[in-house]
Amino acid sequence: MRRTRVACAARGAVAAVLAGGARYGPRDLLLTCSTSESYALLFKLLCSPGDQVLVPRPSYPLFEWLTRLEGVEAVPYALHYAGGWQIDLGELRQRLGPRTRAVVVVNPNNPTGNYLSAGELAELAAVCGRRVALIGDEVFHEYGWTDQPQVRIAEASQALTFHLGGLSKLVGLPQLKLGWIGVAGPAALRRAALRRLELIADNYLSVGAPVQLAAPRLLALGELVQQQLRARVRANRDWLVQHLRESGAPISLLEAAGGWSGVLRIPAPRGEEALALDLLDREQLVVHPGYFFDLGSGSHLVVSLIVPPEVLRAGVAAIERELARG
Ligand SMILES: Cc1ncc(COP(=O)(O)O)c(C=O)c1O
Repeated sequence: MRRTRVACAARGAVAAVLAGGARYGPRDLLLTCSTSESYALLFKLLCSPGDQVLVPRPSYPLFEWLTRLEGVEAVPYALHYAGGWQIDLGELRQRLGPRTRAVVVVNPNNPTGNYLSAGELAELAAVCGRRVALIGDEVFHEYGWTDQPQVRIAEASQALTFHLGGLSKLVGLPQLKLGWIGVAGPAALRRAALRRLELIADNYLSVGAPVQLAAPRLLALGELVQQQLRARVRANRDWLVQHLRESGAPISLLEAAGGWSGVLRIPAPRGEEALALDLLDREQLVVHPGYFFDLGSGSHLVVSLIVPPEVLRAGVAAIERELARG
């Protein structure tokens, strides 16, 4: 099917912002209408019904649904917290089976905010080899909390690698509906995957022309949005660290390096869900209980760090009041 000039310009603009344009040309990319759609297209590309995809736990809660809707099984592998989050690579290796078609990593993970280390990425690429694809969701990559450079999924050059991103986080515009898949890795695998992905995507033609026309301009403005969001999230996080140190409240903020969320470990004798519902009823405060993300042992609340500073302060005061009620 003939690709329009508008789509080419949009792909060119996306390629230019991805890793400074170094790793992707416009032909190494596919446009989608969201990261969720990117996952759906990739599961169609890589899996037959009943195949498996390894997904991180804790992480973004949609994996279970996005896989199930494609007839695919999500098999979780663990991230453990010990003053920082790490992938349990031993467990991940054990979870790989004859029907594993892809390993999903979220870099940085949501909501835990840990980036992949260079060692983890190298291990993952080696584990995947040429048999299993690596899907790297980097929608939050630009939102690090320090200026330290972080590894990117496209550096795992020996595996067939899919790099997911979109306007939703890169420019803070989720409703414009533009996402993308950057394809990297061994040339023959990459070319075959791109040919088949084009065919799958052409059956839906889901990306609207207006957003493709606007993409070069929006992406050029994106850096301004990112600077403001990074500054807000970093200031909110710094305030939260200091406040919790000084307040003596029984709340600890888990270590992380990026993203838009803070994970609070809290005492919750009535359970995370009851606490979150009480905060909603009594304090009109929206927070997510840790189980939404499979945060596992202990009780957690996940709070947004992109809210205005006064909203974060009022929210933390509300959580402290609610915890004092027992
Ligand atoms: C890790 C992760 N991936 C993807 C998405 C969704 O992105 P999109 O709006 O492009 O579907 C989110 C939304 O919060 C997310 O947290």
